[in-house]
Amino acid sequence: MYVLSVSSLKGGVGKTTVALGMASASSARGLRTLVIDLDPQCDATTGLGAIGEFNETCADVLKSPKHNVVHKAIVSSTWAKIHSTKIDVMVGSPKVQQADAPSPTVRELWKLEEALARIETEYDLVIIDTPPSINGLTKTAWVTSDRILIVTEPSLFSVVAAERSIRAINELRKAITRRLKVFGVVVNRYKPLSKEHQFRVAELAEKYPGKLLPQLFEEKSTMQQAQGAAMPIHSWPGDTAASIAASFDHVLDALMLDLTERVYDEDNEKSRRNRKEKRRMKLKRGKGIEASPLAVLMGSDYNGEDKAKADPLEDLISSASSDDSTDVTNSDVAAQVSEAGSGSDGGSSSD
Ligand SMILES: Nc1ncnc2c1ncn2[C@@H]1O[C@H](COP(=O)(O)OP(=O)(O)OP(=O)(O)O)[C@@H](O)[C@H]1O
Ligand SMILES: [Mg+2]
Repeated sequence: MYVLSVSSLKGGVGKTTVALGMASASSARGLRTLVIDLDPQCDATTGLGAIGEFNETCADVLKSPKHNVVHKAIVSSTWAKIHSTKIDVMVGSPKVQQADAPSPTVRELWKLEEALARIETEYDLVIIDTPPSINGLTKTAWVTSDRILIVTEPSLFSVVAAERSIRAINELRKAITRRLKVFGVVVNRYKPLSKEHQFRVAELAEKYPGKLLPQLFEEKSTMQQAQGAAMPIHSWPGDTAASIAASFDHVLDALMLDLTERVYDEDNEKSRRNRKEKRRMKLKRGKGIEASPLAVLMGSDYNGEDKAKADPLEDLISSASSDDSTDVTNSDVAAQVSEAGSGSDGGSSSD
């Protein structure tokens, strides 16, 4: 199971639209897909055709990520009938706002990870739609993610918001989980004839070399129509929809390549070590993750040496090239957290 968060610290840029586009590509590809709707507005839940009263939702999962709660909060999307593959949604709820504290505890941050550990073998790709803020919900999504896709419009404020997102991700990566990486920055609502948009895209390409995705999603009413009908873009009629769907396919290809190449490297690396060395490495990694849930719950303080650099680009490059990610799986972490003492808050994360 791989986990992708779709995020932006600015509202209305197209997070949900991109999350649904990726879900459409994933299920059209035959991947078992789960969309987690962490936004209290619940747009992804609606877009996936899951409408009605739900006894259990994301809000319950974040309170108590037990096996039966997790399974009850997941329902099948109406898209499953179209693509004949498993496409589910962990339904959103306005109540999830209660988990959106500005300074969540480390234990709170790992709740979704605990939940996903319970369904690790049931899905190939999990896509999390996040709210437009950097509070508890977004951080909870990021902590459990392998990759983050930042959505931006080609406007000044959105570009600034993208920068803030990348800085926040790198801080969280250093403080909590080295598994987390920025997958890329995707431009949405692009108007090819707008000089301002052209300028902002060039600016983004310069700021984030290798991270700005070549697929530019243009402002197209087709996007809104498919979303309004709760249909996957891959099944919407017309050439425009087909071209948008193809762009999402390319983004999915790039994501899977990014994820599997990394795993391949790690597997190679692992096979070169004997079991004793592996155990030693794990200990070292545990120490290396300064504020890992284990470290924090055990009371060892992060010494703050590794504070975020001022330049997000420098971090992006170093994070792309470094080989220091952990081989932590969702179940490993859930086991670590519960071993380290369930119920303990252990401290709070920095903003
Ligand atoms: N490329 C596009 N072309 C046309 N309309 C778009 C495009 N992308 C998004 N929209 C529309 O813009 C509106 C906002 O998009 P969306 O809900 O995806 O943004 P969001 O970032 O998830 O917003 P929020 O921050 O409120 O969660 C929606 O009505 C959506 O249909
Ligand atoms: Mg949204």
